Amino acid sequence: MKYLYVETYGCQMNVADTELLFGVLGKEGYAPTDEPSKADVMLVNTCAVRDNAEQRVIGRLGELKRFKRPGVVLGTVGCMAQRLGQQLLEDVPHVDLVIGPDGYRALPDLIEGALAGDRAADVDFKTWEHYEDIAPQREIGSKAFVTIQRGCDYRCTFCIVPMTRGRERSRKLSDVLAEVESLARRGVSEITLLGQTVNSYNDGERDFADMLYEVGAVAGIRRVRFTSPHPNDFSNRVIEAMAAVPTVCEHVHLPVQSGSSRVLKLMGRKYDREGYLRCVEQLRRSIPDIAISTDIIVGFPGETEAEFLETESLVREVGFDDAFTFKYSQRDGTGAVRLPDQVPEEVKGERLERIISTVREVACSRNMGLIGVKVEVLAEGMARRGELIQSRTRGNKVVLIDGPAELIGSYLTVRLTGTTGATFTGVPTPTGKELAIVG
Ligand code: 5AD
Repeated sequence: MKYLYVETYGCQMNVADTELLFGVLGKEGYAPTDEPSKADVMLVNTCAVRDNAEQRVIGRLGELKRFKRPGVVLGTVGCMAQRLGQQLLEDVPHVDLVIGPDGYRALPDLIEGALAGDRAADVDFKTWEHYEDIAPQREIGSKAFVTIQRGCDYRCTFCIVPMTRGRERSRKLSDVLAEVESLARRGVSEITLLGQTVNSYNDGERDFADMLYEVGAVAGIRRVRFTSPHPNDFSNRVIEAMAAVPTVCEHVHLPVQSGSSRVLKLMGRKYDREGYLRCVEQLRRSIPDIAISTDIIVGFPGETEAEFLETESLVREVGFDDAFTFKYSQRDGTGAVRLPDQVPEEVKGERLERIISTVREVACSRNMGLIGVKVEVLAEGMARRGELIQSRTRGNKVVLIDGPAELIGSYLTVRLTGTTGATFTGVPTPTGKELAIVG
């Protein structure tokens, strides 16, 4: 038996791509392992979105070197692999192969080459590539990620992704549907549709609204989520579909990046503060109680203190339920590298701290308002610490509940009893384990 070990960094798309890597090598007789010491092939599936993500990978590659017995292959795949290509082979001598997100079919060949002493990189873009014939190898539980679109046609000036994942392309809706149906038959009840700008999905005939109607109606699917949408691609049709399809969850992760119209323009986001707020208003009008989370970058080139304060005020105005916050990181080859007035590191750090505390305060006050409310949760697994079960609401809030492990995979109604500000505690209501679907 040969063993494959994969470490995954970055976004959900990478998590889904790792399942594909296990699929590609599963066909070649490789079984998964969690232990690098047992592996015949070790892969690091990388992210390139910020410099610190890349530095972590370089560090990990150094650590994995000690598991490289003769005949063991160490590869770097994903976005950082795509970005650096051949250069990575030159800089890190113990890496045997480098493959970008469109090249995973070449994995068996490159492994064979590496075993024969031939180190190689495959970083060609293949705009037709959807890996349609390769079944991702997943750990089947209640939830699954399904990639519906790859690549990105936006050109946000901070972002490296168009350079690492290539042009936007959508899978055929019928192929996506077949995959979701097969997952549902295997007990999956929650689907997260993935795409770089997922709501711009269009396979030439059907758009993202069609996708929500069709996936949302698959027997056995109780929750449909998607990430990440772009504010400009929320057509009325898509918002109507979100409101009309009962399985589509009342949560949207809607990256704003900045609350300043001037900075948004420099970022190439193609909406301004008012446009974003209009999008939020439309979503809230159609889907009352929708939870909204976001991504925020502080310290983009030229961002003044006043413009940073506009981001803070936007956080309050929208009342985000949660936000991922980042210091701007300069990426070679992106538009923003050439912009004047790069913000000093200390200023970025200090703004990051302030935005984190604003986000916490806003999220906490929204969450306090939910105490006492009854909600449906999906019991997802054991919480990391202690004996409690970690569950999640349709609005994507984490709720810790007390109960037997057998509840995992089922839907329960709980009353929210407390919050740390971010996560909740909850108690199953007397009806208890209603509507159970065991995954
Ligand atoms: N610097 C900091 N954050 C970035 N992101 C993307 N590129 C950069 C960058 N150069 C953030 C954005 C995006 C999230 C996935 O990562 O907020 O939405």
